[in-house]
Amino acid sequence: MIEQKPPQKPFSAAILNWYDIHARRLPWRSPPGERPDPYHVWLSEIMLQQTTVVTVGPYFDKFLTLWPTVHDMAAAPLDGILTAWAGLGYYARARNLHKCAITISKEFNGHFPKDRDQLLSLPGIGPYTAAAISAIAFDKAEVVVDGNIERIVSRLYRIDTPLPAAKKEITIRAAEITPKRCAGDYAQALMDIGATICTPRSPSCGGCPVSDFCAARATGDMERFPVKAPKKVKPTRRAVVFWLERPNGFVLLRRREEKGLLGGMMEFPSTEWQEETIPVETAIKNFFSNDFQKRANRITEKAMVRHTFTHFHLELQPVVISIKELDKFVMPRGQWAEPKEFGRYALPTLMTKVARTVIKDRD
Ligand code: ADE
Repeated sequence: MIEQKPPQKPFSAAILNWYDIHARRLPWRSPPGERPDPYHVWLSEIMLQQTTVVTVGPYFDKFLTLWPTVHDMAAAPLDGILTAWAGLGYYARARNLHKCAITISKEFNGHFPKDRDQLLSLPGIGPYTAAAISAIAFDKAEVVVDGNIERIVSRLYRIDTPLPAAKKEITIRAAEITPKRCAGDYAQALMDIGATICTPRSPSCGGCPVSDFCAARATGDMERFPVKAPKKVKPTRRAVVFWLERPNGFVLLRRREEKGLLGGMMEFPSTEWQEETIPVETAIKNFFSNDFQKRANRITEKAMVRHTFTHFHLELQPVVISIKELDKFVMPRGQWAEPKEFGRYALPTLMTKVARTVIKDRD
């Protein structure tokens, strides 16, 4: 019979010893045993929500160059934050990052609170992030459970309940084995073990410091865990997206509403994103005045752009419309921008894909 509860001390000691030697050197970290800057920990944890360590690295460096302190970030315009964030996705994180920086700068005198509950009251900080900041930046004995740690714990105990229902049981188990001291190093050690050893496929159990404690390893069915509920099928939404180009090469951008998906980011004007396909002619008829349609020079369809969001797939049909003059008809509202200057705008990856498709596929 497999021991169901790894003894806490030897277990966490094995993890921490492993970390002393194998910790990944990441830009936001301090060496094992030392405390990093809470501003760096907070920034990295917000960026690392839903995004990989490799992708985050350059963004983290760029943000610290632009805004070395939380006061600098609080003083920046939101559009500056959104532009620097462009490409990282989940843009609500960038808006909350800015709100949180302002709160810390104004109400906390630039100092992040140490306590998990106080951290939880800040914009963009949920239970995972509050626990991670409290443990990593302030050495508080918080229980940190991210996706990597979920996988490790579910294997350690062969937890049969499918995710997401298993989260509660996993957190209880994780709490039992979290040490009272060095909880930040311990959490980051588990993250590193999850990323490099206890991987979703073909885990390298031979190099794992806790394989002796692992129930799934003893049974040999590591890859079965964590058990996941079947994925829901994502719907597909569709739209026609307009690349409106003036003779000088400037293209029309508009800003999305503050609230909701890609809130506050820039985009090329498009029809509503909906399940039914809208024919290009209908889209043009509905979107532009008759006068505009008569004066538009050339209308060209480009290759379909596909993108997947958390809850749906999106298919955008780009249509390039070259227009002769600007002042003769009513245009959709927006801002004219030169494609070579797009880097200065808060364009999400989806819109960068549209731009690349149009530019690559020029006739
Ligand atoms: N993912 C989230 N936080 C992390 C950290 N501090 N180190 C590595 N991966 C992480």
